[in-house]
Amino acid sequence: MLQNLFLDDQSHQYYELIETETSMKFDSQFGRMEVSKTKMKDGREVVVRFLTHEDKELLLDMVNSFSDYVVLWGSPPYDEAKIDRWMNGVGKGLSLVAVYDQKIVGISASYTNLLPRGRGIGGMMIYLHQDFHGVGLGTVMIKKLLGLAKGKGLHRIGLEVVEDNKAAVRLYEKLGFKIEGTLLDAYYGADEKYHNMLVMGKIL
Ligand SMILES: CC(C)(COP(=O)(O)OP(=O)(O)OC[C@H]1O[C@@H](n2cnc3c(N)ncnc32)[C@H](O)[C@@H]1OP(=O)(O)O)[C@@H](O)C(=O)NCCC(=O)NCCS
Repeated sequence: MLQNLFLDDQSHQYYELIETETSMKFDSQFGRMEVSKTKMKDGREVVVRFLTHEDKELLLDMVNSFSDYVVLWGSPPYDEAKIDRWMNGVGKGLSLVAVYDQKIVGISASYTNLLPRGRGIGGMMIYLHQDFHGVGLGTVMIKKLLGLAKGKGLHRIGLEVVEDNKAAVRLYEKLGFKIEGTLLDAYYGADEKYHNMLVMGKIL
């Protein structure tokens, strides 16, 4: 069984998104920390950096302003306890945030299995604010996460996603995740109906 450290959710066309700047800033947790800035398809420049201990309020602001669509296929409740679990990932797994106009507009994180027979095997999650869907941010964040995870020795990333969450399935497929199986009626939706979940995975 995967040991979930801090989450409870559980080479194709991305070259058009040009990383315009990569710099280092000093952070008390990470020492030197990479910060990258990427121009989205709509021209907005978004910074992607590691989550830090100072980010809790900004994360709460993001989650409190999520539209119903963002959390439609997620794992409610989206409360402070969930944010605290995300914050627990600081310095343990890999947790990235996207920042625009001094607001956090996305989070993506991966975690690893700590058991000996789970070595190098992990999972991931991503949530983006609705104002940043469809502009390439999901691609940028996961691509960066996968690169960092591989650099940390992760061998495989697996995840489960509701089959009807077309944007997420498309994003994962685009970045090389394969559908490995279908879990029938494994998710009870906000529509009070059961939905299939796809098991997806990628060998890094
Ligand atoms: C899933 C999510 C991360 C996608 O992020 P995004 O920034 O919109 O993704 P991108 O802009 O990088 O697009 C990735 C691909 O998905 C496709 N896509 C985006 N929205 C789509 C939609 N509504 N239907 C079908 N495909 C869609 C894009 O067309 C793109 O493919 P392309 O480059 O071939 O055109 C975002 O919608 C989100 O945060 N959703 C809510 C939380 C969630 O569901 N998380 C995943 C849980 S497992």
